[in-house]
Amino acid sequence: MTRLLITGGAGFIGANFVHHWLGTHPADRVVVLDALTYAGNLANLESVKDRPELRFVRGDIRDTPLVEQLLREERLDTIVHFAAESHVDRSIHGPDAFIETNVQGTHSMLKAARTVWLTERAVREHRFHHVSTDEVYGSLGPEDPAFTEATRYAPNSPYSASKAASDHLVRAYHHTYGLATTISNCSNNYGPFHFPEKLIPLMIVNLLHGRALPIYGDGRNVRDWLHVSDHCRGIERVLERGKPGEVYNIGGGAESENLALVETLCAVADRAFQQRPELIEAFASSPAARGEKSATLIQFVKDRPGHDRRYAIDCSKAERELGYKAEVTLERGLQDTFAWYLDQQWWWRGVMDGSYQRWIETHYR
Ligand code: NAD
Ligand code: TYD
Repeated sequence: MTRLLITGGAGFIGANFVHHWLGTHPADRVVVLDALTYAGNLANLESVKDRPELRFVRGDIRDTPLVEQLLREERLDTIVHFAAESHVDRSIHGPDAFIETNVQGTHSMLKAARTVWLTERAVREHRFHHVSTDEVYGSLGPEDPAFTEATRYAPNSPYSASKAASDHLVRAYHHTYGLATTISNCSNNYGPFHFPEKLIPLMIVNLLHGRALPIYGDGRNVRDWLHVSDHCRGIERVLERGKPGEVYNIGGGAESENLALVETLCAVADRAFQQRPELIEAFASSPAARGEKSATLIQFVKDRPGHDRRYAIDCSKAERELGYKAEVTLERGLQDTFAWYLDQQWWWRGVMDGSYQRWIETHYR
């Protein structure tokens, strides 16, 4: 039986991972530590909140004594560290929070793990898994080979620089102190509970309301899209089969230019409006409700400063050594994600009108 501390478990990927793990390991203990920033939402854990195996703690990863206390009192042997500031655009406007959470916060987690697991020897075996990003490797040209685990770090945004720094700290704690760490660097995730300021959920919500779909620059920037369920399976593989000290790339094998991706999403929406007439009344301001194409909402806007041109990830190491394989194609993943946002309007409406944040502030001061 594994006893996990999942940081950032109320965020997008962390919450998906909590659902995944409780589904595949129903007897395990899962403690979620999350500060519930704008990106963290207890609504993401609504359907599992009454599971006796799950404990939620509102707290900050920079609070080292709190992390140590949780590791001790729950006899936790595994950390899956998701908590971070994660939005590149926010890092451009306000980098400080990224250094505080991603660098200092990760260091706080490492210090706590070292104290309880290595100095106090509170558990027999342990694992510190750090969730990172392909953005640490920088930007690729159109013909460059995909990032491997050996690609030189060249982060370009305050976000990716802060994640790169945290990766280096994790590596150093393994080499210097012998902490049993693993790192996974993954590509752009999408799927349920994705906060509607990132590309895919923003486009879904905007097109449903007939609002512009802002494409930065020429829309030719390329991302490799990874369905969050594949990412969760990948992390599970790293925990079960990965070797301490190792790094694994996890990708979706689905490179797409942003413009093409948004056009595909628009086509998915147009088909959904044809198949589900109730959408016409529910989203009357969407072009699709008038039989027009959602893609007419696309608008090219000023580019993001320092916008990385292309990310592509080579995950052959994870495939070879861990048996990882992405299962969800981009086409199917976009259809499922669009359907999820249609069926779970309570979720994104609550996130966007701030009602969850107000609820959190009254219940978790
Ligand atoms: P997210 O922004 O949706 O969630 C982050 C979570 O961390 C939130 O619940 C937030 O409340 C919590 N948090 C933030 N600061 C905290 C602090 N100081 N203490 C405790 N909790 C805090 O992020 P996400 O998209 O789910 O990303 C999760 C991890 O995966 C991050 O480390 C990110 O760098 C990495 N990653 C994300 C993507 C992606 O496409 N979203 C891709 C590659 C890697
Ligand atoms: P994003 O979801 O912010 O992820 P990241 O920057 O971490 O890759 O953006 C994905 C891509 O979409 C990125 O190239 C920026 C672009 N983008 C837009 O063109 N318009 C938008 O409104 C947003 C949020 C992103």
